[in-house]
Amino acid sequence: MIPGICQNEKSAFSLLGNPHPSSFPARRYPGKGGMCYEARESSARTTGMKPLNAMRPEALLSSIAQPLSGSVRVPGDKSISHRALMLGGLALGRTTIAGLLEGEDVLATAQAMRRLGAEMTRLEDGRWEAVGRGVGGLCEPDDVLDMGNAGTGARLLMGLVATHGFTSVFTGDASLRSRPMRRVTEPLSRMGAGFAGRDGGRLPMAVIGAKTPVPIEYTLPMPSAQVKSAVLLAGLNTPGITTVIETQASRDHTERMLRCFGAKMSSEPLPGGGVALSVEGFPELTGQTLTVPADPSSAAFPTVAALIVPGSRITLENVCVNPSRTGLYQTLTEMGASIAMTNQREEGGEPVADLVIAHKPLFGVDVPPDRAPSMIDEYPILAVAAAFATGTTRMRGLSELRVKESDRLSAIARGLDSCGVRVAIEGDDLIVHGTGAIPPGGARVATNLDHRIGMAFLVFGMASARPVGIDDARPIATSFPGFAALMNRMGAAIAPDAGA
Ligand code: S3P
Repeated sequence: MIPGICQNEKSAFSLLGNPHPSSFPARRYPGKGGMCYEARESSARTTGMKPLNAMRPEALLSSIAQPLSGSVRVPGDKSISHRALMLGGLALGRTTIAGLLEGEDVLATAQAMRRLGAEMTRLEDGRWEAVGRGVGGLCEPDDVLDMGNAGTGARLLMGLVATHGFTSVFTGDASLRSRPMRRVTEPLSRMGAGFAGRDGGRLPMAVIGAKTPVPIEYTLPMPSAQVKSAVLLAGLNTPGITTVIETQASRDHTERMLRCFGAKMSSEPLPGGGVALSVEGFPELTGQTLTVPADPSSAAFPTVAALIVPGSRITLENVCVNPSRTGLYQTLTEMGASIAMTNQREEGGEPVADLVIAHKPLFGVDVPPDRAPSMIDEYPILAVAAAFATGTTRMRGLSELRVKESDRLSAIARGLDSCGVRVAIEGDDLIVHGTGAIPPGGARVATNLDHRIGMAFLVFGMASARPVGIDDARPIATSFPGFAALMNRMGAAIAPDAGA
């Protein structure tokens, strides 16, 4: 084998699922002895370390797709995967998890839980096993907790350690280090934790866990499942009742999973609207057998691809259809999409279904602000759908998009504009003018360490007049490892961008 060149049959081309690998130049990887991508990916899975080629940007180009077809399963839900590892690491006994998302964000959580004393093992059959420490049993990590790109991993774990009487230090990649953490440090300080971070409450940050935590009642200032979950998780190792008041519903995976592990959780509707969510301190959490359904936020990309590529019809299996996550599917249906939720059932405490999606002309709609929490991660791909629709789509109340993995409001507008779509930002609203004609495309979009911007514009290129490139596909591995290969198997033409 020639050092530095991957000669395994499963090279970059077959990982991309490209039917014509010979039309692209051989792909070189830096690193020892030509260890191939596949080997690096699997070692990354078990160690939680980033693959060696993570140092080099990977430009991809998406060209006109064949009609999409087939039945596929997208990777496991990211939100549920983080929570399964955290609660598995806290419960007494063994938790086995099938379908865990083996994306970089979740692997960072697994690694952090190991540093906090829990056992986290990938079994030979692909399931994961966590052996927990018991509530209050986490121990001081002997190194910095590097959460990579993962806002959910960082904020939820900060909640978990805030009521353990030791100090831990959190950091992450450039994107995570730029994201606001005050939204969690503020309520957690009230519970007795101390924080020393960078200006603006940003990582790296030391969390000085409360030695004698106090329960609080906290009204969420913004609809955020991450903040809600951080406080509820902190409440586990706190005496008495910790309550979070939520005026606008956000994803409820933490509440569902806490109940499943044996915590005492209550949910009381409030007379003026909203709910009070309470958790009782010091529960005995016991190991569980969990199955993680497919991620509706990842399913969103093939869904929109099938809607905009003429002649497509696909099935997405086993997708989590928890109502707190399905705002995109409701919106697309209002735009005229044909999305059938078949075989509806419940698995591991979450509603799941198979989605059957067929190409259909779309029309612009008005998306109300109160729908945002149920589709907060789906605006990049909804904006792509809107660009292929006839008429104007106004997406209202998107201030939270400015503090995601990138400033998504600007990133979407810049990307669409460079692809020849008329787009505007008015206050916190995003307005996309679809003409019903095929949008031009022909741009290279900067992902700025944002997986969902990358995937959204690769989908755009599947149906635009000219191909669309992204400057760096590496962030996609945070939530959707194997994205390009899966899309190519269905009919996409996503390949390394030889011109980059
Ligand atoms: C998540 C909550 C959302 C979402 C994120 C995952 C979670 O963030 O954007 O990708 O798993 O709790 P916010 O809580 O900041 O809205």
